[in-house]
Amino acid sequence: MSTSKSTTVSVPSLLLLDASPRGERSHSRKLAQEYLANWQAAHPTGNSVTRDLGHEPPPFVNEAWVEGAFTPAEGHSTAARAAIRVSDRYVDELIAADEVVIATPIYNLTIPAVLKAWIDQISRYGRTFTRGENGFVGLLGGKRVRIIVSSGSDFRPASPGGAYNFLDGYLRAFFGFVGITDVTFVYAHSLNDGNPLRETSLAEASATVQSLATAA
Ligand SMILES: Cc1cc2nc3c(=O)[nH]c(=O)nc-3n(C[C@H](O)[C@H](O)[C@H](O)COP(=O)(O)O)c2cc1C
Repeated sequence: MSTSKSTTVSVPSLLLLDASPRGERSHSRKLAQEYLANWQAAHPTGNSVTRDLGHEPPPFVNEAWVEGAFTPAEGHSTAARAAIRVSDRYVDELIAADEVVIATPIYNLTIPAVLKAWIDQISRYGRTFTRGENGFVGLLGGKRVRIIVSSGSDFRPASPGGAYNFLDGYLRAFFGFVGITDVTFVYAHSLNDGNPLRETSLAEASATVQSLATAA
């Protein structure tokens, strides 16, 4: 008698989010492409999805979205159903990924509005967080997030400019809220024209990106 065993092979998967509105000139996009190329070389069977938030911004949360997210599906208006379908697509992509890479500028001390719009879309009760006996519980544990940050000045947390960095703490807190605690930041800083640290900063960020992309 023969028995057959089925095995599930898990394919590594990466979700890449680009938040800069710039194209070729964007430093964060360039670093993200380096990440992706190195990740693909290290994971030849892996699956990657790129979501270009900078060029295709997610819609803002509106009244229809709130109805869709917080009231029973049976009673949803057409507008609520449409709004939540959009949100579900972002959430599905995120849930499918083992690893998320976010390439983002610092804008006015924090994240660009397009990245906040994405966060609002994927922050979903019952899908990415829920409520437990002791408060909110994140549902996305086990993933890791790499955040590639580009900035004109030096806003690394330990630098004097770090006091003005409201991106780092916010993203760490938000991903913690949805259950992701493995969050790593890479800073390409001091990128303003004429800053003498610019080339060194870019070279260091590039080396860090390459080693993170190929890390187990
Ligand atoms: C609207 C706007 C706001 C910015 N705010 C900041 C800031 O608060 N701190 C900073 O260091 N750089 C700031 N910058 C500079 C950008 O972070 C920097 O140019 C970065 O390289 C942009 O990312 P990108 O090259 O991927 O497009 C700002 C740039 C723009 C256009």
